[in-house]
Amino acid sequence: MRTLGLDDLRLIANIDRSEHVEVEFAVRNGKLVERPVSMTDIPSWDPVGTGPYSIAAQIAFCEPLIAGGASFFGAFDVAEVLGLAVVDVSFEPSIAWLAFLYVSRPFRGRGVASALWDAAVAAAADANATSVYVSAVPTGSAVGFYLSRGCALAEPVHPVLYTKEPDDIHLTCSLG
Ligand SMILES: CC(C)(COP(=O)(O)OP(=O)(O)OC[C@H]1O[C@@H](n2cnc3c(N)ncnc32)[C@H](O)[C@@H]1OP(=O)(O)O)[C@@H](O)C(=O)NCCC(=O)NCCS
Repeated sequence: MRTLGLDDLRLIANIDRSEHVEVEFAVRNGKLVERPVSMTDIPSWDPVGTGPYSIAAQIAFCEPLIAGGASFFGAFDVAEVLGLAVVDVSFEPSIAWLAFLYVSRPFRGRGVASALWDAAVAAAADANATSVYVSAVPTGSAVGFYLSRGCALAEPVHPVLYTKEPDDIHLTCSLG
């Protein structure tokens, strides 16, 4: 696990974001329910374009957060990047926001996201946050992962983050 900086944002290009999705969730009446999968095979980020699912867009999303003081962590096997996470530890007084967490496809299911989560939580606690907020993609893997880390449905959801990603599953984890 390494703490990274702005110069390391290019590592996002090495993450294979693709995923075969078998389970997808929605929130209905305050409860998680399964819904039909909207995209069975999520592709890798576009390596050349600048659209919303491009590597350029991911870098543009993370860059101002890190420049503004968010922590950036990378999990490596020697020089190979396995996964990356960005946590804005002072998103709001006492609330940290886990803004980005991706493990590259070949390295999933080996505890890499758990290690990144632990680093993000430690950074949040060091900054005196009492909870971590996550706007998670609604896939079974992402939601299953955050529930496994002790997250629960956010009630209420964060108004700004919810407006940006209304199809996401909004979760919070108390650090108390
Ligand atoms: C979600 C994701 C980050 C999990 O990374 P990972 O390194 O495979 O996760 P870990 O190995 O640390 O798994 C820890 C726990 O999460 C849960 N989990 C992980 N993958 C899961 C899956 N596919 N389905 C259900 N639960 C899952 C399990 O409880 C697992 O514990 P276990 O291994 O003892 O069963 C990874 O699948 C990923 O990057 N997916 C694509 C992008 C994404 O969804 N990112 C989150 C954006 S908000």
